[in-house]
Amino acid sequence: MFSRINTLGLVGLNAFPVFAEIEASSGLPSFDIVGLADVSVRESRERIRSAFRTSGIQFPSAKIMVNLAPADMKKSGSVHDLGISVALLCVNGAADQEKLKNSAFIGEVALNGEIRGVNGVLPMTITALKQGITEIFVPEKNGSEASVVNGMTVYPVKDLSQLVEHLTGKTPIQPVRPYVPAQTGYDNDLDFADVKGQESAKKALEIAACGGHNVLMVGAPGSGKSMLAKRMPSILPPMTFAESIETTNIHSISGLLDPDTPLITKRPFRSPHHTISTAGLSGGGSVPKPGEISLAHNGLLFLDELAEFSRPTLEILRQPLEDRKVTISRVSGSITYPCSIMLIAAMNPCPCGYFGHPTRKCICSRKQVAGYLSKVSGPMLDRFDLHVEVAPVEFDDLSSERKEESSAAIRERVIKAREIQLQRFKGTDITCNARITSDIIREVCPLTDSAVEMMRGVFDQMGLSARAYDRILKVARTVADMDSKQVIDRKHIAQAVQYRSLDRKYWSND
Ligand SMILES: Nc1ncnc2c1ncn2[C@@H]1O[C@H](COP(=O)(O)OP(=O)(O)O)[C@@H](O)[C@H]1O
Ligand SMILES: [Mg+2]
Repeated sequence: MFSRINTLGLVGLNAFPVFAEIEASSGLPSFDIVGLADVSVRESRERIRSAFRTSGIQFPSAKIMVNLAPADMKKSGSVHDLGISVALLCVNGAADQEKLKNSAFIGEVALNGEIRGVNGVLPMTITALKQGITEIFVPEKNGSEASVVNGMTVYPVKDLSQLVEHLTGKTPIQPVRPYVPAQTGYDNDLDFADVKGQESAKKALEIAACGGHNVLMVGAPGSGKSMLAKRMPSILPPMTFAESIETTNIHSISGLLDPDTPLITKRPFRSPHHTISTAGLSGGGSVPKPGEISLAHNGLLFLDELAEFSRPTLEILRQPLEDRKVTISRVSGSITYPCSIMLIAAMNPCPCGYFGHPTRKCICSRKQVAGYLSKVSGPMLDRFDLHVEVAPVEFDDLSSERKEESSAAIRERVIKAREIQLQRFKGTDITCNARITSDIIREVCPLTDSAVEMMRGVFDQMGLSARAYDRILKVARTVADMDSKQVIDRKHIAQAVQYRSLDRKYWSND
């Protein structure tokens, strides 16, 4: 007897259809799994056999061969347990595979018959829908996650006995109600209104949010760098639905989704500690997992105390920051995860923190200062479009009763500037000025004559690299958009240049 049930597998972020095929023949009873299954899949046999026994379901007494097709794709993990179990149920007559042609089953079976949650349910459900599957049976824990996919009927399964009751038509399982995303209006208790003064730093962060630029903040301890960075999410534009799905997929395969918010609609803000490993930051491990840079996809990665991160860890970030994707190579093949992020970093200018401070004396030697700054390499520094010097907050500002501008007001301007960019880049995969590619930069950044003149002066005076030159142009493009100007003028260039001055002040001896 032969039965075939739809299930799904996962490689990195990509789900693919898998058939759990069973051939049951007479002969000495046995139970084998083939089809490029790794050890974790072969362990399914023990789990499923035990689950059938403890749930009081008869295990077919036959020579059973399970094939996970297609046999050329590597299968790993416990996600196929449920599909194999249902194929077995078809063999012993508890389910009818003819009726399950448009159904798929994913989930891990525990020894006691319970169905345990698995990672990657969202990408698998999306793939199932594309394959023409209309009903998917998932672990109860992952029900809300699968219900995000419009057009799919999702059955949450608690245990094997419940599934048998459903399949035999005795007690049907209620499908999960389709998920309706919450409003994306921003509700954050961290608001820019809490930050007194610091006008220049706030302006820089607003420009960064408008154009999606990377920012580096340098300043003495207690000047408010961490405070400012943590408020960035409150002024970013809302996520599009496509962005939400992309980001949720990454959190789904990492097993980090909160069942109460199965669709991520707020841009992620990840702030890993500086002791993080290279694999933790950029992805990797024996089962290659997305790193913090990918978990921050479509959102923010905040590296606080940038100079404390190990230099090799930071250097690994360089390529992914440019490419907006990170590739992890393994003997078994390579996996690519997206990482389209905005990078915000903060650091002190020296070990004691007071180099360049207007009133406090720095106790570090020149060598110590240079050594500290050199932890951030020139090419890494070049990845930041905006460098901001965060001055110590003034007493008058701190004690003032004046109300500071709220995040909501800043965010309105950001959304307006982003709309101009969306129009400009319509039909391309560029979403904001920070992603302008070198082939179109001249075309989308027209300059007035006097702006050209200024750019020429700056280029010679500052000894700019071609990359730094392009970065100034992109920031100037954003400043002009905020000013609703099509052509970039002198004053826009002047603002953009102002945010490139740190490398000369601190890194000039590099
Ligand atoms: N501009 C400011 N307005 C209000 N409070 C501030 C400001 N700057 C700093 N603070 C206070 O100082 C604390 C330390 O700031 P923090 O952001 O941790 O500094 P840094 O990261 O630069 O060392 C903050 O938690 C906040 O209470
Ligand atoms: Mg700090």
